Amino acid sequence: MYKLKNSSIIMTQSTIPDVQLKNSVREFWNSHPCGTQFTNLEWGSKAFFDEVERFRYATQPFMNTIVGFNRFRGKNVIEIGCGLGTDLMQFARNGAHVTGIDLTPQSIALVKRRFALEGLPVRAMVADAENLPFEDNTFDLVYSFGVLHHTPDTQKAIDEVYRILKPGGNVIIMLYNKTSLHVWLGVPLYVLLRLQKNNSNGKKGGGIVRDWIRVYDGTENPLGKAYSKTEMERMFSKFKNRQYTICDSYRRHLPKLANTVNQKLFASWCGFWRFIKAEK
Ligand SMILES: C[S@@+](CC[C@H](N)C(=O)[O-])C[C@H]1O[C@@H](n2cnc3c(N)ncnc32)[C@H](O)[C@@H]1O
Repeated sequence: MYKLKNSSIIMTQSTIPDVQLKNSVREFWNSHPCGTQFTNLEWGSKAFFDEVERFRYATQPFMNTIVGFNRFRGKNVIEIGCGLGTDLMQFARNGAHVTGIDLTPQSIALVKRRFALEGLPVRAMVADAENLPFEDNTFDLVYSFGVLHHTPDTQKAIDEVYRILKPGGNVIIMLYNKTSLHVWLGVPLYVLLRLQKNNSNGKKGGGIVRDWIRVYDGTENPLGKAYSKTEMERMFSKFKNRQYTICDSYRRHLPKLANTVNQKLFASWCGFWRFIKAEK
């Protein structure tokens, strides 16, 4: 955090703001664990986890096709930013040895409860994607869905993914897609809406595009970023055999027809979610 230079202590660029930002990210997700917004059921009950899972795969029916939860039987799989552990559970049910880490104690407590209810083993712990508490070359698969664009130093987290992955191991990561209909249509509409309201409530800095991407996860979400394929190619350049898949969730606020049109015509080339699958 600090470097000694000429007998005086200087702060490395943007270190303190990053620490503050990381704390805000932790606070936000700790009080809004991802998936809880779609149900009013009591957190931690079996009915709650069932409903979270049902909703997830109803609105993201392509997950198993893209990820292939059953391809990692007997392998060491880690999910970074596991949230409520819905995807982690699919790997576990299919025979993988699973580890889940998340920045927030709330998510980790819920993941432990979920696996206990199902009687499956899990190693779940609070940890930071930017400083993972694992040895080099530990995992056969590093999986992360919708997480690394919420951490201040995304590149550092990707470098950590590379470090803990075994040689020949797989990575599957989803990051928000900058070259998407969500950005092309959403940003002008967002500008108009804000002009109409004549205020900048909720804006947390970083420009209008960054702000539009941030509010995708809620107006109080402190940080959200999106990347183009060119940017992802650069960020993941150490990985081999890089392949990309673009998709989009069914949007619960959109009418059925708009969702159908989006899925049939746009989602596969300008959806808001871009997966990278690659190897070390
Ligand atoms: C949008 S949620 C996604 C959760 C889960 N992957 C899912 O798909 O439901 C983002 C998650 O990333 C976690 N997160 C954000 N920054 C992180 C970091 N630096 N290290 C670990 N987890 C982080 C948050 O706590 C939150 O649970």
